[in-house]
Amino acid sequence: MPKISEHKIEQIKNYNDIVDVISSYIQLKKKGQNYWARCPFHDEKTASFSVSAKKQIYHCFGCGVGGNVINFVMDYEKLTFIESVKELAERANIELEEFSVSEQEISDTTRFYTINEFAVDLYHKALFSSKGKKPLEYLIKRGLSKQTIEKFKIGYAPDEWNYFNEQYDNKKYDLNVVKNSGLLSESKGKVYDRFRDRIMFPIYNLKDKPIAFGGRTLKNDKNIGKYINTPETKVYHKSSVLYGLNITKDIIRKAKEVLIVEGYMDFLQLFQNGFTNCVACSGTAFTNQHGKIILRYAETAVLIYDGDDAGQKATLRAGYVLTSQKVNCKILVLNKKDDPDSFLQNYGAQKFQEKIDNSISFVPFLKKYYKFDKLNATRKASVITDILDEIRQFPDQIYREMIIKDIADEFGLEYESLLKQLREKSYKTVSNNPKIHIREKKFKNQSEAAQYQLIQLFLINNNIVRKAGLKYVTPEIFSHKFLAEVVGRVLEVVAKNEDILPEQIPDKINDEKIRRFVVRLIMDLDSIIEPEKTFVACLKQIEKQMIQDQYDELSVQIENIKNDDKAHLKLIKEQIKLIKEKKELDSYYTLDILNV
Ligand code: CTP
Ligand code: MN
Repeated sequence: MPKISEHKIEQIKNYNDIVDVISSYIQLKKKGQNYWARCPFHDEKTASFSVSAKKQIYHCFGCGVGGNVINFVMDYEKLTFIESVKELAERANIELEEFSVSEQEISDTTRFYTINEFAVDLYHKALFSSKGKKPLEYLIKRGLSKQTIEKFKIGYAPDEWNYFNEQYDNKKYDLNVVKNSGLLSESKGKVYDRFRDRIMFPIYNLKDKPIAFGGRTLKNDKNIGKYINTPETKVYHKSSVLYGLNITKDIIRKAKEVLIVEGYMDFLQLFQNGFTNCVACSGTAFTNQHGKIILRYAETAVLIYDGDDAGQKATLRAGYVLTSQKVNCKILVLNKKDDPDSFLQNYGAQKFQEKIDNSISFVPFLKKYYKFDKLNATRKASVITDILDEIRQFPDQIYREMIIKDIADEFGLEYESLLKQLREKSYKTVSNNPKIHIREKKFKNQSEAAQYQLIQLFLINNNIVRKAGLKYVTPEIFSHKFLAEVVGRVLEVVAKNEDILPEQIPDKINDEKIRRFVVRLIMDLDSIIEPEKTFVACLKQIEKQMIQDQYDELSVQIENIKNDDKAHLKLIKEQIKLIKEKKELDSYYTLDILNV
């Protein structure tokens, strides 16, 4: 069989616009010529991942990944070149002739999918065999219809050590791949089924490929875990999977609203009752990644967790995550004894719909959660501090302040004073004697390190430091040539808009080398604690070095004019003056210089 031709590959590239393709995985924002996002290949707070529609390439200024549309699919989906080409061909409806794929051209990812597909089928059939009588009865008693069981390919792992182990074709599937896929366990060199006597809920990714299982026991025994799950594998990352989304995503997109529950059973009950715009987070903590996925499909999320304390605590966490990502987050609070599944079975779909219609926004939920009205003044103050500590982490400043406004209104507090408290504690104070702290050591001296740090300080959105910076700092005081250029550009940008957010600054800089450097500085901002004190320490360090340089220069001159007593004395006097100046630095450079 032939390989895919170069010509065909070019055609596939031409028919798959890189912005379209990448947008189907992550949210891109257009800024200037390019599209930007937080890099999907490394953790970052600011967007340094860019996509160029014109050049049809992507590049991350943070971690350096980059390439064309095929490279992106390879990196993102962990597929081989051929597999990625095939996927892009399907996406663009380009027909491929039969072509050969060698063993090496099959990725582990694909191998995981196929072994899981096999297991889904095996367990699903077992549920409808004589071995599955009891679990099938159980599921029906729990209110699931055969249709629901079929649709979600629910299965049963029989009560045997080697049911799966003996049935998969070990010529077709490599033992290591099977072991790594989490379907088998190993102890003392013996391999056996991980899932035994459990109802199996297959978990799919958004490409409709099974990547994991949740297995529920039928026993009412507190000593065995109610659920066991596939461990994290190459294809299964708990923190970024939402159960059911492969089936409900289009419904959610249409409704613009998603109902979020915790359990598989909750999800299935909702779905069966016509609440099909739902997902389950499978009992794991709701992560930022979950939030990002939700944002791709919905504007509004309704959290419907268990009514008990644990459920409400989890609601609070998820609510913060969603709100911080600007999802309009609503909360449906159930009775302490109910979960969504039991509520639907006890009260029916109509009552559930009424509950959804009456769900409350996150800020009123906060007030209710803390029973704010019943607290004494001290407790109230500490609740507010807790809430502000959370909101301070929200990435968008304007949005932060909007939420604060809501809180002020809802809690009956003064907006201005909340805002003041929000800004005051913006940076945690840890030490009283901040050191200039730089990860890289390529600087000639402490002054250059201070210059580097000063630039970072202007990037942080701290008005006090920015104001003082505009007064005291100019490129001329920078001895490092490139850093002087960078600070010049950054100061220009900040002078035009003192409130500009760090991540907006690179876009205002045209010079590519400086821009990339600023992007890198922004990625490193977390290392600065106590910006005000650090600012003063940096300025002092720079001036100290200037004085030292002058001193050293005088020493050289003194060496050279040994025989001229008068000139000699004059230079010594100058040196003494410098020593005095250096001593005075400490009393001059205090936090007072910030009052500008
Ligand atoms: N979960 C888990 N491990 C456990 C308990 C729970 O992984 N030991 C996860 C499962 O994904 C479960 C979810 O947390 O679906 C919610 O837990 P729970 O409400 O106890 O489970 P339900 O799915 O509602 O199961 P059931 O109604 O059968 O008790
Ligand atoms: Mn339940």
